[in-house]
Amino acid sequence: MFQQTCIAPVNIAVIKYWGKRDEELILPINDSLSMTLSTDQMCAKTTASASSNFKENVMWLNGEKVAFDENPRSARCLKEIKRIASAKGQPKFPLNLKLHICSENNFPTAAGLASSAAGYACLVYTLACLYGVEDEELTQIARQGSGSACRSLDGGFVHWKKGDNPNGSDSLAHQVISPSSWSNMRVLILVVNDSKKKTSSTKGMRLCVETSELINHRAEKIVPQRIENITKAIKTKNFTDFAEITMKDSNQFHAIALDTFPPCIYMNDVSHSIAEFVHRYNELAGETKVAYTFDAGPNACLYLEEENVAGVVAGLKLAFPNDNAGNVEYVKGIPINGQSY
Ligand code: PMV
Repeated sequence: MFQQTCIAPVNIAVIKYWGKRDEELILPINDSLSMTLSTDQMCAKTTASASSNFKENVMWLNGEKVAFDENPRSARCLKEIKRIASAKGQPKFPLNLKLHICSENNFPTAAGLASSAAGYACLVYTLACLYGVEDEELTQIARQGSGSACRSLDGGFVHWKKGDNPNGSDSLAHQVISPSSWSNMRVLILVVNDSKKKTSSTKGMRLCVETSELINHRAEKIVPQRIENITKAIKTKNFTDFAEITMKDSNQFHAIALDTFPPCIYMNDVSHSIAEFVHRYNELAGETKVAYTFDAGPNACLYLEEENVAGVVAGLKLAFPNDNAGNVEYVKGIPINGQSY
């Protein structure tokens, strides 16, 4: 038996990916940029084994048996890895051996907490290690599992370029800065609701591309400049500019989701109260100390620097007491490196 286990962390976008120009190859209509969290919390762990005793490819996700060959995305990731393994010659073991794959997330799946990003990044990386494939273009394969997964194969801040080629060969993710370059950057995850989201990102994006009159304006006229500006803010560690762009982009993503017909509503009242809290906190502090961003769900991700964590957490606990039903369930600090809270 041949076996490999890997872990891959979640990434949280500050410039959101929303909308595909090619659904099969998962090619986006705009660039996106995210920070990959550290591997000590919120990650996927995958073990893949190949054996001549296995009769079929089988996968378990969080203990539940799920389709593998019948799932076009996981099947495509495996096919691509095998293609590279065979092109490189002398694979580690016969490519026709069947696989058993076991994957677990240590956080809520499909609750808008980037579980598919960590999951597919981990699947692709584990398969690549199992088959002995070292390829610079692994992000291209992870992208075909779940778009945002391509950004989880590297640490620090990562930029996924939409690319222009119809075959997706230039739709790749690259590191902007390493985790140690902005080592006091932290993320707090506020789990407002950990149940599965109502509208999957695939369906939400498709409907948005089909019906929103604002989405193309965002993709063509807004995102390119934002990517340039936030890259500069990240490289110079300018938190004020970074925070403003991050919050504006989150708001704009939810605005185009609302412009979908029928509308996609991901944030709830508690999410909006958290955004309001952040603006009020910064206003009272007289400077920008914290930024929010929300993915396709009600949970908040707050970006802030280490020295402001204690103050923000204290404020949050006052504003959103844990024993208050319907409010924030818990606050979790995800260090990019260093200790957690
Ligand atoms: O990769 P997907 O299909 O799960 O889409 C992710 C979409 C957002 O999380 C809302 C934005 C992003 O860039 O991660």
